[in-house]
Amino acid sequence: MTDISVLLKEQRTFKPTQEFINQTNVKQWMDQNHIASLEELYEKASDWKWFWEKMSKEFIHFYQPYKKVVDWKPPYVKWFVGSKYNIVHDALDLHMQTDVQHKIAYIYESEPGETQKITYGELNGEVNKLANALKQLGVKKRDRVGIYLPMIPQLPIAMLACAKIGAIHSVVFSGFSALAFRGRMNDCQAKVIITCDAFYRRGKKIFLKEQTDTALEDTPSVKHAIVYRRTGDKIHWKSGRDIWWHDLVKNMPKICETEPLDANDPLFYLYTSGTTGKPKGIIHAHAGYALGAALTLHWVLDVKPTDIYWCAADIGWITGHSYIVYAPLILGITSVLYEGAPDFPLPDRWWSIIAKYNINILYTSPTAIRFFMQKGDEWPQKHDLSSLRLLGSVGEPINPEAWIWYYATIGKEKCPIMDTWWQTETGHFMISPLPISTLKPGSAVLPIPGVSADVYNEQGESIIEAGGNLVITHPWPGMLRGIYGDPARYQETYWDRYKNIYLAGDIARIDQERYFWIQGRADDVLSVSGHRIGNSEIESALVSYEAVAEAAIIGVPDPIKGESIIAYVILKNRVKSSPELIDILRQHVAHEIGKLARPDRIYFVRDVPKTRSGKIMRRVIRAKALGKEIGDISTLANPESIDEILKI
Ligand code: PRX
Repeated sequence: MTDISVLLKEQRTFKPTQEFINQTNVKQWMDQNHIASLEELYEKASDWKWFWEKMSKEFIHFYQPYKKVVDWKPPYVKWFVGSKYNIVHDALDLHMQTDVQHKIAYIYESEPGETQKITYGELNGEVNKLANALKQLGVKKRDRVGIYLPMIPQLPIAMLACAKIGAIHSVVFSGFSALAFRGRMNDCQAKVIITCDAFYRRGKKIFLKEQTDTALEDTPSVKHAIVYRRTGDKIHWKSGRDIWWHDLVKNMPKICETEPLDANDPLFYLYTSGTTGKPKGIIHAHAGYALGAALTLHWVLDVKPTDIYWCAADIGWITGHSYIVYAPLILGITSVLYEGAPDFPLPDRWWSIIAKYNINILYTSPTAIRFFMQKGDEWPQKHDLSSLRLLGSVGEPINPEAWIWYYATIGKEKCPIMDTWWQTETGHFMISPLPISTLKPGSAVLPIPGVSADVYNEQGESIIEAGGNLVITHPWPGMLRGIYGDPARYQETYWDRYKNIYLAGDIARIDQERYFWIQGRADDVLSVSGHRIGNSEIESALVSYEAVAEAAIIGVPDPIKGESIIAYVILKNRVKSSPELIDILRQHVAHEIGKLARPDRIYFVRDVPKTRSGKIMRRVIRAKALGKEIGDISTLANPESIDEILKI
């Protein structure tokens, strides 16, 4: 919560010009619907069932109409009950009947610098070929397909091919380790996985197939691995299991009927970290998710049919699922897809991409913004960024300093910044400005029309001008449908704290004008370089090393990464600590769950503070590490452990 004091002092406001406001999608919709002001828009949309039904007519198309807009039986929701739908129908099929089929869906730039432009028609053909191939491999409706691919066009193609036939995709970020991939594939019981030989990252090749081979040593459910040839490197081949993508699709027809599904059938599982170490497989369904994602992209990021739009996230995270794959395709937008690292070969790579393709909208994260801030203004200044019209931010609170830099140096003081708060669980933006709102740097502004959020104290009372628990008070279209295989955890994580009210797990403050200021996670989840990592996942990884008995992880603020990772490690008896062991443990974590999770510092201690029930009190360690007040330690079982940490 280190940003609170800075945020509290933030008084500046920014209002888009009237000329800008008049050309926005949302203002034009308001004019057509005779809505005179923002207040009136929010007021009308507070009749949320009416609002989402109205919006469904504008954004999604059913095969068979619904009988009921929403069926809310807490904690489970169903949208557009009784209808038949498939997200691919909106994302691809309907475009084949219009000129959008000839439009570019993705401008792909590889890290080495080649550009490939893929039209909607071409994308559709590739998706259909792979969908036919999946069927031939025996993949059926509701079967799980694991996808472990970098940022190449085959990633959206694979996702869409699954969705098309009613299979459920589960994408695992290509930066995750073999063991992380294995755990997720075993959890969702994937039947087939899709990967590639290798890919480029910061000029080096990452051999993804090697990692896949390790993962698949112990994934009994996986029958086939489809391998896309990206670099042409020689790879290990397991005959019977491994199949080249190009061989598989070679003779497949470019036509494949999209499966009409129940609107509430699952579209994907996406794993996100929780506090207990085991990642949660968040379930999203077809129709509601499609509606929420498409409406928010249209209204908030204000993407126009003629725009070039760039969401610079990785598709392996929810941001990429919603705002690189599904929403832009539903809206028939041209998106940029970039394979590589932001600073390769030089720190102006992103700015060169913006200038090269005349990008109008950039959507990225505070961690990326801070990274570029640190690299210096000379890099963006080398390029003409005048095509930009609007900027977006997501993933963590954006500190006002970074907001102002983004606004001035990248947006040249003419691009409003949409600070969008949402989660893997929510599927789409929940709290965000509209491009006609007055902005306050560091505030995500208001719940979007049709969404209702609040901040509650421990007693469940609404509070303002104080930090409390961020909650969502009624269902929304992209609402998660559960945690795969763990309904009890679903209930407990989101719904037990306040009855039938969604607990987001974040701390937030509402100011006098009801603007929301998000202050970070309420529990122990680290935010490193824009990614959420459970402390206990890293602890489990450390403990899996033979010499380690126990470990406690905390995050401390880091100006670039968001948080840096500090590990307190208790070694097993008779094991001697050494500088070498620190290196070994860091490598071990990288191997177990990915480089992203590698501790920045490791300290060896004899004990860590714990509650009487044996839970590590990370809050106490963190307070110590930051030299702050410890607060209530009445539940602490071993106070002497604090003295040891103090000595470090
Ligand atoms: O803590 C909030 C933070 O990221 C969490 C969700 O992370 P994840 O599920 O990985 O999804 C990230 C992309 C949507 C939230 O609980 N977060 C996300 N956006 C913001 C944010 N914190 C502050 N401001 C935001 N705009």
